[in-house]
Amino acid sequence: MQQIAIVGAGGFGREVKWLIDDINLLHPTWEVIGFFDDDFPSNQKIDSKLHLGSLQQLNQWQQVLAVVVAIGNSAIKRQIVQQITNKNIYFPVLQHPRAIVGKQQVSIGEGSIICANAIVTTDIIIGNHVALGVASTVGHDCRIHDFVSVMPSANISGNVTIGEAAYIGTGVNIIQQQNIGAEAIIGAGAVVVTSIPPKCTAVGVPAKPIKFH
Ligand SMILES: CC(C)(COP(=O)(O)OP(=O)(O)OC[C@H]1O[C@@H](n2cnc3c(N)ncnc32)[C@H](O)[C@@H]1OP(=O)(O)O)[C@@H](O)C(=O)NCCC(=O)NCCS
Repeated sequence: MQQIAIVGAGGFGREVKWLIDDINLLHPTWEVIGFFDDDFPSNQKIDSKLHLGSLQQLNQWQQVLAVVVAIGNSAIKRQIVQQITNKNIYFPVLQHPRAIVGKQQVSIGEGSIICANAIVTTDIIIGNHVALGVASTVGHDCRIHDFVSVMPSANISGNVTIGEAAYIGTGVNIIQQQNIGAEAIIGAGAVVVTSIPPKCTAVGVPAKPIKFH
């Protein structure tokens, strides 16, 4: 068994713990030693014994340790990953046993999380620290850059490119061949039929930018 810790003790962190438990049911692989979180939630739903400390303590960890950064917000996720400087840390890909990932020309970068019932078809490049939420789908020839978060039940059609640290809300549908700019936020339920510029929030059907950040 390899030791693994989860960064982020919020809701997604607990879901990732469940994902790891499900991997272990099939192939005993990981010993979850606990969570690192600078703001340990006050409404603790995890046992405080499992709170291992802050990022500072993670950076001082002396043993080799697998780490998964389980933060939904793409921008915060990127910030946190960039703060992890400890050479003892490595970032495995975590794929739920009931996710379907094509064997044909699919690459998935370190630290990425593929949740239950996600489907990734063929000829797809997924960067580092990408999260594909429960029941999300990624079609042929997509390119999903580092730190993107795709929320549950979003559907990304073929030949879509999603820029670094973009956030795709729950239930979003993106039609084929569109580009989503880096750091764009696509609101829940949006239907994207034209490319979306970087650093904006776009909502609605069809999705249109409502603000830039
Ligand atoms: C799009 C989103 C990021 C906007 O958040 P925000 O920047 O805080 O913006 P606000 O809530 O102030 O909303 C701004 C306007 O957009 C509207 N709006 C917000 N989200 C919307 C959405 N998903 N679809 C359509 N309109 C939306 C608001 O009603 C508001 O309209 P108004 O100016 O006419 O009052 C957020 O509402 C959202 O959809 N987040 C995704 C949530 C999600 O997928 N969670 C998954 C968790 S697993």
